[in-house]
Amino acid sequence: MASNEELFRKIIAHAKEYGYIFPSSEIYDGLSAVYDYGPFGVELKNNIKEYWWKSMVQYHENIVGLDTAIFMHPTVWKASGHVDAFNDPMIDNKDSKKRYRADVLVEDHILKIEEKIEKEVEKASKRFGDSFDEKMFRETNPRVQENVRKMDEIKQRFYPALECNDLVDVKRLIEELGIVCPVSGSRNWTDVRQFSLMFSTQMGSVNEDASAIFLRPETAQGIFVNFLNVQKSARMKIPFGIAQIGKAFRNEIVARQFLFRMREFEQMEMQYFVRPGEEMKWYQYWKDARMKWHLSLGIPAEKYRFHDHEKLAHYANAAADIEFEFPIGFKELEGIHSRTDFDLGAHQEYSGKKMQYFDQELNESYIPYVVETSIGLDRTFLAVLSQAYREEKLENGSGRVILSLPPRLAPIKAAILPLVKKDGLPEKAREVMDALKYDYRCFYEEKDTIGRRYRRMDALGTPFCLTIDHQTLQDDTVTIRDRDTMLQERISVEEIEEALKEKLAR
Ligand code: GAP
Repeated sequence: MASNEELFRKIIAHAKEYGYIFPSSEIYDGLSAVYDYGPFGVELKNNIKEYWWKSMVQYHENIVGLDTAIFMHPTVWKASGHVDAFNDPMIDNKDSKKRYRADVLVEDHILKIEEKIEKEVEKASKRFGDSFDEKMFRETNPRVQENVRKMDEIKQRFYPALECNDLVDVKRLIEELGIVCPVSGSRNWTDVRQFSLMFSTQMGSVNEDASAIFLRPETAQGIFVNFLNVQKSARMKIPFGIAQIGKAFRNEIVARQFLFRMREFEQMEMQYFVRPGEEMKWYQYWKDARMKWHLSLGIPAEKYRFHDHEKLAHYANAAADIEFEFPIGFKELEGIHSRTDFDLGAHQEYSGKKMQYFDQELNESYIPYVVETSIGLDRTFLAVLSQAYREEKLENGSGRVILSLPPRLAPIKAAILPLVKKDGLPEKAREVMDALKYDYRCFYEEKDTIGRRYRRMDALGTPFCLTIDHQTLQDDTVTIRDRDTMLQERISVEEIEEALKEKLAR
């Protein structure tokens, strides 16, 4: 069994070899935390986008789409709070020269204490069996109590220190907790400093005219500033949502985790505008709805968990992450935030334009509250890819690598394979290909033995292989092979479309 790190390396290598993900500008040794999507990667990515878009926009009559520009007026980012608050506290280890997010170091430390508590509970549960009273154990066991106390003490000091930007105390805490650099093992830390995550560039042709603008760090602000344009033009009534898929840019401090933390990435966001006072109801609704969406991909439930935020972003009054168990551990995949009326209120203040909605039922105007669902497209891609990657030992002693992708997301739905490159089989296979290719992304291949071609399709994640053999010429049937079970059945050429339709709905 490969260690998680080894597994992660294998997935990255596989993604490159099979045309899913390439490092950006690879011939120049790459660009840190920037990646390109290859021929099969772009298909998988588009399929994930489509699946999200359909479930959010097409299936909800009260959600509409939008596609806003990456460049926005610089005051947008002042109003949104990003200019002042979109920073990460960073700290460097002087021996390894590695840079870390100071908050992540402390949070990982808290997590380790939490894990100790859970181990203690698990041990006791095994010892006492059915008679185990978990609640009482947690409340009375001295070791659990001691660790809970430690955790509370850290949190009570750490979050206020971050809140009021007391970076000296954050560093003191890191030292007092004895946190070491995972690379050098030393406690030789620099001071903690704030680091702006926004990229900026110049707009304008000559230097004197040019003004600094930012590359958007989230797509959400394009939705907020267009709130009234959309509401009026699409005649939306509260509650309603606006959805958008687009690029976002962050100059991440720690960016060594493949698609997990990129400097250029894509978000799929939806802002849901609600009556003030109803936001908690909708926050809970969207938490549940988004978890259901993830589970609908067929990935086991134990790979997901919620993480409710204790430290809230400057715009939120409640926030939770849906975390996924990546090969690098449980990490944030999607955020659900109750953003109050912070953004619309701030844009009203900075722009001097009213951002209010007239509620006919209540006969009053107000600034709506917003519940946001924000999912990283690239992280979803990584979740789907890493969940799909498997190495299997076969009965005959050989092995295969398989990408067991959900069929509806797979880049190629069916491979069309003539058994041999003669006897009229390629011509017949081409006919099958031509009949299918307008409705399904298919892949025609006649090179190599049929066994090799099956292996290649398994590794690419193609759920079905249609093989055209000599019998096809006699009775117009083909074999359809299932990637996961490797079982083959014979169906008539006429039945192929219907069979694919039924199987791809899974
Ligand atoms: N509008 C809210 C917002 O941007 P966020 O939690 O900062 O919230 C939302 O980001 C999602 O975007 C995350 O859950 C994650 O999936 C994705 N994301 C954020 N930073 C990322 C990065 N550097 N690389 C890849 N995905 C990222």
